[in-house]
Amino acid sequence: MSKTALITGITGQDGAYLAEYLLKQGYIVHGIKRRSSSLNTERIDHIYDDPHNSGRRLFLHYGDMTDSLNITSLVQKIQPDEIYNLAAMSHVKVSFETPEYTANADALGTLRILEAVRMLGLTGHTRIYQASTSELYGLVRQVPQSEDTPFYPRSPYAVAKLYGYWITVNYREAYGMHASNGILFNHESPIRGETFVTRKITRAVSRMALGCDDCLYLGNMSAKRDWGHAKDYVRAMHLILSQPEPDDYVIATGITTSVRDFVRMAFGYIGAEIEFSGEGTAEEGRIVSVNGELFNSRVGTGDGSHLKGRRVVAVDPAYFRPTEVEMLVGDNTKARTKLGWQPQYDLDALIADMMKSDLKLMAREDYLRKGGYRTMNYFE
Ligand code: NAP
Ligand code: GDD
Repeated sequence: MSKTALITGITGQDGAYLAEYLLKQGYIVHGIKRRSSSLNTERIDHIYDDPHNSGRRLFLHYGDMTDSLNITSLVQKIQPDEIYNLAAMSHVKVSFETPEYTANADALGTLRILEAVRMLGLTGHTRIYQASTSELYGLVRQVPQSEDTPFYPRSPYAVAKLYGYWITVNYREAYGMHASNGILFNHESPIRGETFVTRKITRAVSRMALGCDDCLYLGNMSAKRDWGHAKDYVRAMHLILSQPEPDDYVIATGITTSVRDFVRMAFGYIGAEIEFSGEGTAEEGRIVSVNGELFNSRVGTGDGSHLKGRRVVAVDPAYFRPTEVEMLVGDNTKARTKLGWQPQYDLDALIADMMKSDLKLMAREDYLRKGGYRTMNYFE
């Protein structure tokens, strides 16, 4: 008998990779997607099953984390073996602008899932994975951060996720539910949302390589993150729910890198060397040399000479956050020893994967070249 999984947030980065992974493991996968005025299933179109086909294994349902009736009736209908609660308003900066909605979707949304399972008498049947986050550590109390490090959230998003974390622990302890938290550090991929900093950078570098756009504006380039590949991290989610006992796990690479160095590495991928000068809001990055041969082999056209000497990065304080998380780095000892989990991608391989994909995408999407509204300098 195939296992049945319900994924909230199936249209997001992690939801898409997880759905693909679970289908490969033989699961029947149900996903909750929000109604939107334009199609929002681009990340899962390649695994979409036409409702007219027989033997379907992927099912999509309309729903929203803010709607208890909808969540409860879907859990009742699907009776899943496993729920992966990935849906969230997941942008830290945006959470300062939409704090109430963020609390509703990210904090109460988690409660709605747990309560649905409890009320429907599925406590002994349904296992729950909660998408917790390294943002919980915020103003970090320890380096590196492990399962025992105290939390100090620094945004409405992180505070909402703190509730999600503790309500998951509480339902596990109060009702004996198989409910676990994955405390995942930043993970990225070619399908990462365009307003998160890594994707903003790989898109911008690709566009500049192809001769469109001039300058990438960023916020705090000194912030450091422990970046991994989303493909590695969805494997960890499945491993967490496959354990006989529920528990909480840090999932991280153990290596931290600044946003500035991420920019350096992304330009490095196309053979361009960038030098930073200036301080604070006056900081800027200029291209000092380009390896023409490498540029041509990676970009597929030209020698990159159009970039030489150009200012390609500058600071716009609009991207600063009212309270910032300056540095995150995870201790993955528990995941390695108890789950047998190990990341396959290092940062070089992650950046190569993202750059390859964005170079292809930007070359194809010539409407972007013509100055469509989707330029690289998003508000977030
Ligand atoms: P993402 O790409 O932003 O995806 C979020 C998903 O949630 C999307 O499918 C989105 O739908 C859906 N969603 C948002 N609000 C919703 C609502 N009210 N009702 C129903 N669905 C809603 O995020 P991700 O990077 O895949 O992350 C997955 C989860 O892990 C999130 O909970 C995030 O907070 C958490 N997390 C992420 C990371 C990371 O580095 N990626 C690290 C730690 C934890 P639309 O497509 O319609 O917007
Ligand atoms: N988005 C963005 N845009 N971030 C920037 C920019 C910019 O122009 N310039 C600098 N940064 C800095 C941010 O201030 C932050 O310190 C860092 O880059 C990473 O920002 P994001 O990529 O937006 O990710 P995040 O770390 O805030 O949050 C992500 O990771 C969390 C796990 O730690 C999200 O995926 C969260 O949902 C997730 O929980």
